[in-house]
Amino acid sequence: MKILVLHGPNLNLLGSREPEVYGSLTLTDINNILSEQAEAAQTAVQFLQSNHEGQLIDAIHEAREWADGILINPGAFTHYSYALRDAIAAVELPTVEVHLSNIHAREEFRHKSVLAAVCVGQISGFGWRSYTLGLQALIAQIENKKRA
Ligand code: DQA
Repeated sequence: MKILVLHGPNLNLLGSREPEVYGSLTLTDINNILSEQAEAAQTAVQFLQSNHEGQLIDAIHEAREWADGILINPGAFTHYSYALRDAIAAVELPTVEVHLSNIHAREEFRHKSVLAAVCVGQISGFGWRSYTLGLQALIAQIENKKRA
């Protein structure tokens, strides 16, 4: 199984960015945790962080050629990027949306995800564990789909 892990804008600053909201792990720490989890599940993961919407969209398009699913923390694009939403809908790969913080308990503008409806589901509010829970859920979803 092969999974693309996408991190959106400003997530390269994890560790020093508002640690009271996003925790103290760096993006590299999170990717290392995911790599170990994936290896234990005989799954290959490829990581990309980008601050640019188009680069994320290109990666989603390319994933059509090689990936079985996508794990994405879209950062602030969550709340307004119809282009990312359309890309996820277009490639028809099972996609799980994750957030470190509980977006529903924060500012009003963060309550809405324009991507959630084209994702299998959303995990929000568990810090770095949102990613591990998301990866676990995505792997189960892909396995179910293969069995069906
Ligand atoms: C975030 C939540 C978003 O609202 C915010 O813009 C981020 C990070 C999270 O992981 O909690 O950049 O996606």
